[in-house]
Amino acid sequence: MPTYRSDLESIPRYVPGRPVEDVVRELGIDSIDKLASNECPEEPFPEVIDTIAAAAVDINRYPDNGGYELCKAIAIHQGLEPEEVWIGSGSSEVLRCAALAVGGPGTSAVYADPSFVMYRIATMVAGAEPIAVPLAANLDHDLDAMLSAIRDDTTIVYVCNPNNPTGGHLPSSDVAGFLDAVPERVLVIVDEAYAEYVTADDYQTFINEAPNRPNVLVGRTFSKIYGLAGLRVGYGVASSDLIGQLRATQPPFAVTSVAQAAALEAIKHQEAVAARRQRNAIGRDVLFTGLKRLGFKPAESQANFVYFEPDTPAGELGDALLHRGEIVRVLGPAIRVSVGTPAENERFLEALASVTRS
Ligand SMILES: Cc1ncc(COP(=O)(O)O)c(C=O)c1O
Repeated sequence: MPTYRSDLESIPRYVPGRPVEDVVRELGIDSIDKLASNECPEEPFPEVIDTIAAAAVDINRYPDNGGYELCKAIAIHQGLEPEEVWIGSGSSEVLRCAALAVGGPGTSAVYADPSFVMYRIATMVAGAEPIAVPLAANLDHDLDAMLSAIRDDTTIVYVCNPNNPTGGHLPSSDVAGFLDAVPERVLVIVDEAYAEYVTADDYQTFINEAPNRPNVLVGRTFSKIYGLAGLRVGYGVASSDLIGQLRATQPPFAVTSVAQAAALEAIKHQEAVAARRQRNAIGRDVLFTGLKRLGFKPAESQANFVYFEPDTPAGELGDALLHRGEIVRVLGPAIRVSVGTPAENERFLEALASVTRS
C-alpha cells in the first residue's frame, strides 16, 4: 500500500448531484428532472455546438496553454487587459490552484458556512486549516465575523456572491468595505460564479476592481449561464502579478482546445445570455412564489437556485421528491432546488405539493 498523507482521510470528498442514469437504474422511473447541480437547463447555443464539432479535428494537438484568444475575448468583453485573465478547468480549478499557492501547513482559510463546499475541500487539499464562519441569521455572509476570524496565519478568505447554496447577494458597498478592511497579505477570492443571473440593482461585479487590488481574485465560470458545465472552463480575474504567482500550481494544458473554442464562441452571444438571465429570473420567481404558496420560507435568491429549510427533516423530503423523479440537493436542514425549464419547475412544485400532502 502506498504511504498516504496523514491528513488524506480528513479531506472531504466532493459529492456531486446524483446522475439521472443512477436514479433511473435504482428507482425504475423514467421521467426525471435534475435540479440538484445549478446547471443551465438549456442546451448550449447552437453556434457553440457547431464550434465544438469543428474544433474536434484539431484535438491531436495540445491546446494553447495560456488560452491567448479566449483571455483576449474575455478581456474585451469585461473591459480588462488579457493578462488580467486566467483560465482554468472550471472556476473550481482556479480556486484550488489559488488555495495551493497560498496554503500549506501552518496557514488557515476563512469562508462562510454554508457556502460552496469547494472552499473547505481546497483548503484541506492545500494542507491549511479551515475556519468556517456561520452565515448571519438572514443567511448573508457575516462579513464582520469573517474579518474577526482572520488570524495571523490566515492567507485566504472566500466571499461567494451570490452565495451558493442560499442564493442571496451582498450589496457592492458591503463587499468594497470588506476588501478595504482585509489586510493586503491575505488573498481574497470573490467568487462570482452566478453573477450573470443577478437582477438586483445594488449588486456589482468586482471584476474591474480586482486588477487594481494586489490581493483580490474574482472567479467566474462558463458552467452556469453559458451552459458549458460538461466542458470545464472558468476563469479568474486579478492583477497580472497575482495571476503570475497563483498559476504556478496549475498543471499544463488545463483547459482543452475544444473548451477554449466553445467558450470563445459562447461569449459572443450576449443577447442570448441576457434572454437566459430573464428566463431564469422568471423561473426563480415561479419557484419562490410556489414554495411560499406551499407554506415554505424560501430565501431570496439572485442565482439560478432557491434554498429553503422545511420544518420536517430535509433528507426525508429530498427522498420523497427523488421517488417522484425530482432530484434536488439536500444540505443539512435545507433543500436547494435549481431553476429548471418552465415544465421542470412546474413538475417540481406539483411533486412537492403532493409529497407534503401525503
Ligand atoms: C459558487 C461556485 N463557485 C464555483 C463553482 C464551480 O464551477 P465550475 O468549476 O464548474 O466553473 C460552482 C459550481 O457549482 C459554484 O457554485
